[in-house]
Amino acid sequence: MEQGRTGIEIRDAQGDAELQRFAEVDAESFAGRAASNMRWLKAAAPLAPLRLAHMDGEVVGGYMLLPVGQFFGGKSVPAQAVTAVAVHPAWRRLGVAGALMHDCVALAREQGAALAPLHAATVRLYRRWGWEVCSMTLRQIVRTVALAGFTGAGRVRTSPDRGAVEALRRTHLVHWDGPLDRPDWFLSVEWDPGDPETPRFEYGWYEGDRLTGYVRYMAERQAGGWIRLHVQEFIATTQDALRGLLGFLGGQESQSSDVMFVHSALPDASPLHWLLPESHRAIELEGFLCWMQRIINIDTAMTARGWPERAAGRLDLEVTDPITGVDRLVLEVEGGSARVTPGGSGAIRCGIGALSAWYSSALRAQDAVRLGLLEGDADAVTAMDALIAGGLPWLPDFF
Ligand SMILES: CC(C)(COP(=O)(O)OP(=O)(O)OC[C@H]1O[C@@H](n2cnc3c(N)ncnc32)[C@H](O)[C@@H]1OP(=O)(O)O)[C@@H](O)C(=O)NCCC(=O)NCCS
Repeated sequence: MEQGRTGIEIRDAQGDAELQRFAEVDAESFAGRAASNMRWLKAAAPLAPLRLAHMDGEVVGGYMLLPVGQFFGGKSVPAQAVTAVAVHPAWRRLGVAGALMHDCVALAREQGAALAPLHAATVRLYRRWGWEVCSMTLRQIVRTVALAGFTGAGRVRTSPDRGAVEALRRTHLVHWDGPLDRPDWFLSVEWDPGDPETPRFEYGWYEGDRLTGYVRYMAERQAGGWIRLHVQEFIATTQDALRGLLGFLGGQESQSSDVMFVHSALPDASPLHWLLPESHRAIELEGFLCWMQRIINIDTAMTARGWPERAAGRLDLEVTDPITGVDRLVLEVEGGSARVTPGGSGAIRCGIGALSAWYSSALRAQDAVRLGLLEGDADAVTAMDALIAGGLPWLPDFF
């Protein structure tokens, strides 16, 4: 429990009345419906802590933590994904969100998390409290007809087993820096309680009995009459699954003028650039929220992730964290693993946010220097970049 200077008290949600009140706060904050919010709040309640801020005896805001892993360097790092950050309009600009972020960092750390990823509607708030941008989530809007010709060996089947889908994701997404290593219940909170009025579909791609791909989408009837598919998730682990699932989506061509891969469901370096003859004419890009990342526990973050086998070196870091203060530590990497010890010379100086973006392969240390986000002599900066060279950042999950 936190009792801030400003009379803000933060604690776990208790009972349906508090859930209902937060459902209303959230609905007013995101122009949603309280009844829809109650569906996912109830689904999440046993699995993910909901923390509520109270002022003058009222629920004025809150946030939720989703216990997940996050892949970095080929290993799953313990994380708490931050979601549903909202403060009622009548209680804004009083420091409630700041108090929620302090609580979030303390609680996530207490739960053993090393990292706290989120999708930011406002970068300023999170940056102030130690998060930093990794990328803007991209919507890739593709002309459906451009997908119509693709085929692959295998076939689609509806409603693939969720455990098998998560297992498939894990084997595939482990090769990027940032994807969530989701618990098997993830979609029961993040997808199943969605608006029942919107048609929603899930298909697996099977080569024989082997699941090799997965797609999940909503179909939206647009004002002009055509259907737009919103693809929330697209996993293809083989060439046949990739071509087969793209062709499957292309099969909607008679009713659908375009397919929107939302929230970086496809990597920014889209496979479509290599598959389509004229990708620049078939694809439009739109940015939406920002993926921001924060290290909550430097020691766990560095020791739980994987490092390239050939990477070796020592960094003397001085890291400034707006919540926990200044920390000096030595990071030693060798043979695919790392060791963190307190102390050292602090030859590299940066904020926890810049360190988090570097950790995520989103920001090279040499670029952080030019951005005024990191200081250190040139040799130390080069050595820092050499430690994680080759990682490709991607957060395909929306939460
Ligand atoms: C984003 C949101 C959570 C911020 O909540 P909040 O409680 O107003 O946030 P804070 O009060 O901590 O900070 C907001 C601003 O008030 C300022 N502030 C904080 N305490 C203050 C005080 N006592 N007096 C005056 N200003 C104050 C902060 O410095 C900050 O200033 P900035 O906008 O110039 O950066 C809220 O606007 C919201 O719910 N928006 C809709 C939902 C949403 O977008 N959520 C984020 C999804 S990722």
